[in-house]
Amino acid sequence: MTPSQLSEQDAGRRPDDALPSPVTVLGLGPMGQALAAAFLRGGHPTTVWNRTPARADALVSQGATRGDSAAAAVAASPVTVVCLLDHDAVDAVVRPAAEALRGRSLVNLTSHTPEHARESAAWAATHGIRYLDGAILTPTTSVGGPDALVLYSGAQDVHDDLRETLGALAGTGVYLGPDPGRAAAHDVALLDIFWTAMTGVVHAFALAGAEDIPATDLAPFAVTAMRLLPDVVAGYAERIDQRRHPGDRSSLLSASAGMGHVAAAARARGLDTEVMDAALRLVRREVDAGRGAEGFSRLAESLAARTG
Ligand SMILES: NC(=O)c1ccc[n+]([C@@H]2O[C@H](COP(=O)([O-])OP(=O)(O)OC[C@H]3O[C@@H](n4cnc5c(N)ncnc54)[C@H](OP(=O)(O)O)[C@@H]3O)[C@@H](O)[C@H]2O)c1
Repeated sequence: MTPSQLSEQDAGRRPDDALPSPVTVLGLGPMGQALAAAFLRGGHPTTVWNRTPARADALVSQGATRGDSAAAAVAASPVTVVCLLDHDAVDAVVRPAAEALRGRSLVNLTSHTPEHARESAAWAATHGIRYLDGAILTPTTSVGGPDALVLYSGAQDVHDDLRETLGALAGTGVYLGPDPGRAAAHDVALLDIFWTAMTGVVHAFALAGAEDIPATDLAPFAVTAMRLLPDVVAGYAERIDQRRHPGDRSSLLSASAGMGHVAAAARARGLDTEVMDAALRLVRREVDAGRGAEGFSRLAESLAARTG
């Protein structure tokens, strides 16, 4: 059968009066399991496959159908959602199932780079597969509920055809346009915030612990400090877009002094200071270049200039 011979239902489009579309989920790590469970709750006949078959057991007991292979699972539904460790895992699972996917829709919710997303979209196009890329921005516990947020990018007709089916996953699904790399581009930038912040969180607990401050004693103050971040993010965004970095409230010179105290205290207690040292190097470079009176948001411009 050629793609043009597949029916609307086969390609993942759903007439208004149709029952929830069958869906296949490839990959049953914590996130894949949450996705499959959300489809089941939404009434979608759900077929699941995972490299380690036992990870499908709980879903099968909830009503999912186990696929004997990735290709067999794909063949059961017009839409396949893949959610695996990384791009290599996606290639290992999806490429051998290319013929089964031909004329069907593939939604890749694996976290990866914009380059990987564009590469997967190009590969899918050469095999007649309708491809949509996506990035899940919220944890497994949110999936299927109002707090879940998923970004999508890729061919608009594919997104529009799948909007209702994908509605089972997230309270908010945002379509970012036809460039398949756009969702991943947002994802990597947001993960940049998340993992840099998480590294700071664990380092802060280690530093406090070196002065016998229990983590639970530090936590309320840490939470108060982190509540400053939403305003900081919004303020920096305006400054960065306007390329104005006033240092009237806090300057890079002042930041370099504060960060220096953290690094010195950590070093004195035998803690690893690599992360703070790297951050401090960025700030000191600005100060040395004569920009010490500017604000911290200036770093975004300097970092971008170094890649340009
Ligand atoms: N967990 C979260 O809260 C969260 C939130 C947002 C986004 N995400 C994203 O969702 C994706 C999946 O995450 P996850 O939490 O479910 O767990 P994960 O540990 O990132 O991925 C586990 C899945 O990948 C499979 N896998 C790994 N290598 C493979 C290979 N070479 N061939 C075939 N399958 C392979 C595993 O199969 P086996 O079971 O056989 O090992 C399992 O199905 C990731 O991209 C992650 O960044 C996760």
